[in-house]
Amino acid sequence: MLSISVKEFLFWKKTQLSKGGDHQSLALLLDSVGGISTSDLNSFNINPEGNLYLKKNLESLESVWEDHLLNSSPIQYLCGITYWRDLKLEVTNKVLIPRSETELIVDIVIKIFGKKSQKLLFGELGTGTGAISIALALTYPLWDGIATDIDQDALAVAIKNYGNYSKQSNLKFLCGNWWTPLESFKGKLNLVISNPPYIPKDTYEKLPKEVKNFEPKIALLGGEDGLKHIREIIQKAPLFLKEKGWLILENHFDQGEKIKQLLIKNKFTSIEIVNDLSGIGRFTIGRYK
Ligand SMILES: C[S@@+](CC[C@H](N)C(=O)[O-])C[C@H]1O[C@@H](n2cnc3c(N)ncnc32)[C@H](O)[C@@H]1O
Repeated sequence: MLSISVKEFLFWKKTQLSKGGDHQSLALLLDSVGGISTSDLNSFNINPEGNLYLKKNLESLESVWEDHLLNSSPIQYLCGITYWRDLKLEVTNKVLIPRSETELIVDIVIKIFGKKSQKLLFGELGTGTGAISIALALTYPLWDGIATDIDQDALAVAIKNYGNYSKQSNLKFLCGNWWTPLESFKGKLNLVISNPPYIPKDTYEKLPKEVKNFEPKIALLGGEDGLKHIREIIQKAPLFLKEKGWLILENHFDQGEKIKQLLIKNKFTSIEIVNDLSGIGRFTIGRYK
């Protein structure tokens, strides 16, 4: 631990922000690498007397900050950590950094099933860091879940994240292409969630460099029109869902109506396009028959 005066630290912090970047990213760096939490930061602002202790010196924190600013490297990858709902998750460049809008999937599930739902079986297709499945497994300790991903490295991150939060075993992890790992659960799933890669090819090519150059292409690109994976997921869903089982999909801002039609074609009912907090139809949900 390195001791420096709070005044020196606050001056350093102001200097870093004057170079660019935002408060939230610097706060993540200070917390995950420097060992200074957001509540520590607030108390230093109120009372800037005395000293504080850092896990890394200011030079090394500054070099990470400059890498973030100069190379557009996502701060979450540089720190190896991201926050999502009330979870602190490990991230590597093998997984998509879970987005804040995706947090709403858990609220949609809670709205459908209530907070005290009895035992059921859920699946997640394309779990990445495991964020959604871990949040559900923790919210519903009586539920059993199976989180899948095609990428073994992504699954390793998800397994580690689950282990950091739970010693239970109500969440299992399986590797494979969409429904393939769930072969032995045909007709048994009460709920399936997926935030699949849904970015259309043209849009993918124009993504900001902090996304395109760093986040896994396999987690983002949804084929020519963005719906390649969503089509596959919906077409096979009736084989795996129980009657009246729910399918919850995240989608691109303009895909809701097309997905609704795909769901209707595949005998889904109770279909709804659910807005995110910016009013965008970000999720499409339905029940199998
Ligand atoms: C948009 S990311 C979502 C990650 C995480 N669920 C989240 O919401 O942050 C899509 C995930 O699907 C996985 N994936 C891509 N193609 C897949 C496939 N054919 N079968 C299974 N998973 C796939 C990717 O590896 C990635 O982890």
